[in-house]
Amino acid sequence: MVQTDVVVIGAGAAGLMCAFTAAARGRQVLLLDHANKAGKKILMSGGGRCNFTNLYTEPSNFLSSNSHFCKSALARYTQWDFIEMVSRHGVPYHEKKLGQLFCDNKSSDILEMLLDECAQAGVDLRLDTPVESIEKHEEGYLLHTGIGSVRCQSLVIATGGLSIPTLGASGFGYQIARQFGHNVLPTRAGLVPFTITEPQLKTICTELSGTSVEDCLVSCNGQSFRENILFTHRGLSGPAILQISSYWQPGDVVHINLLPHLDLGEWLATQKQERPNAELKTLLGEVFTRKMAGLLCEHWFASRPLKQYVPSELEAIAEKLADWQLVPAGTEGYRTAEVTLGGVDTREVSSKTMESQKSAGLYFIGEVLDVTGHLGGFNFQWAWASAYAAGQFA
Ligand code: FDA
Repeated sequence: MVQTDVVVIGAGAAGLMCAFTAAARGRQVLLLDHANKAGKKILMSGGGRCNFTNLYTEPSNFLSSNSHFCKSALARYTQWDFIEMVSRHGVPYHEKKLGQLFCDNKSSDILEMLLDECAQAGVDLRLDTPVESIEKHEEGYLLHTGIGSVRCQSLVIATGGLSIPTLGASGFGYQIARQFGHNVLPTRAGLVPFTITEPQLKTICTELSGTSVEDCLVSCNGQSFRENILFTHRGLSGPAILQISSYWQPGDVVHINLLPHLDLGEWLATQKQERPNAELKTLLGEVFTRKMAGLLCEHWFASRPLKQYVPSELEAIAEKLADWQLVPAGTEGYRTAEVTLGGVDTREVSSKTMESQKSAGLYFIGEVLDVTGHLGGFNFQWAWASAYAAGQFA
């Protein structure tokens, strides 16, 4: 029988951070993960360069059915605190855009930093260690694990969400939450590409697969994001699409302004005066790629010399491109989603300590909670902040 002060289940972003924060307070910490490697998502993140935080982190960058919950932890461990640790470890980084901080080299710099902090604080990390069952006892918790029975005073659940099962994701955290009487809000894939099955649109997406439109305004359910979109074989992706996917529910219409920087109606009217013999396809080829202009004219608008259009026809073309409305068939799901929306209901968790209000000594941190960030380093900042909060008390 192993006896320890704290057990953290899940050696991902939040689990690693919480483990060394608690150990630095003098707590004896055992960190368990069923995977053969710690921090697999950190390694995969940010295209291999880990977008580890965002300079402009605000509570408004997070979705939750309890929108105030994240404020306290985010205020007590900020992006500046994490940047300080990154700098202290000499990890080179840069701002890519919109406050998004990435490693100059590789994501493994961040993972190595966290593992180094764990080693320095004396965290006992055990990989390839499944947890079979958990029971509550008067003085804490008894776990049956791959390394035998473990007793602890505090138990921290940092098992993340359901996204990308091949990286170790499991529903274990939700199962434990339910076991101890917690409400788990319905989960769904977030920051995920859309699939399109409508035949004409599907053809356009497939033909343009790999092409992006640099500046689009994508809106749904009162939220808008202005970034690029990317056509894929299955539908649409790119930052603006991933962002809006977290606000989309099946059946909802997505509005895409393909040219938010241009008053297309006015531009087409001017072009008609100046270049009446120019074909619509040629003009659209000046604001999109020639291939995209060709496809739009093949499927949406017949291309003729501009002088042959009456003003209302040009206005209708401008309108369609400024407010392209589509209903995605669905999303690519957990297979490719960056995050899981929903999860452990934060109304039953302390926003100060992350401790369960149902079972003393039980803590939930990171993505397993119903707190989901926008794209851009916010999800890691939530992992660091919630883990730090629990690490102060567990
Ligand atoms: P995380 O998923 O990191 O860790 C959970 C750990 O628990 C894993 O190690 C897992 O093996 C373990 N576990 C699960 N079930 C278990 C069980 N039953 N027993 C034991 N262990 C168990 N965010 C961001 O801010 N910037 C970025 O650049 C990216 N990029 C990115 C790319 C990709 C491909 C994905 C999938 C995700 C991102 N994200 C991101 C999101 C980010 O990775 C995510 O929000 C955090 O990793 C969540 O941290 P957690 O520690 O909560 O879970």
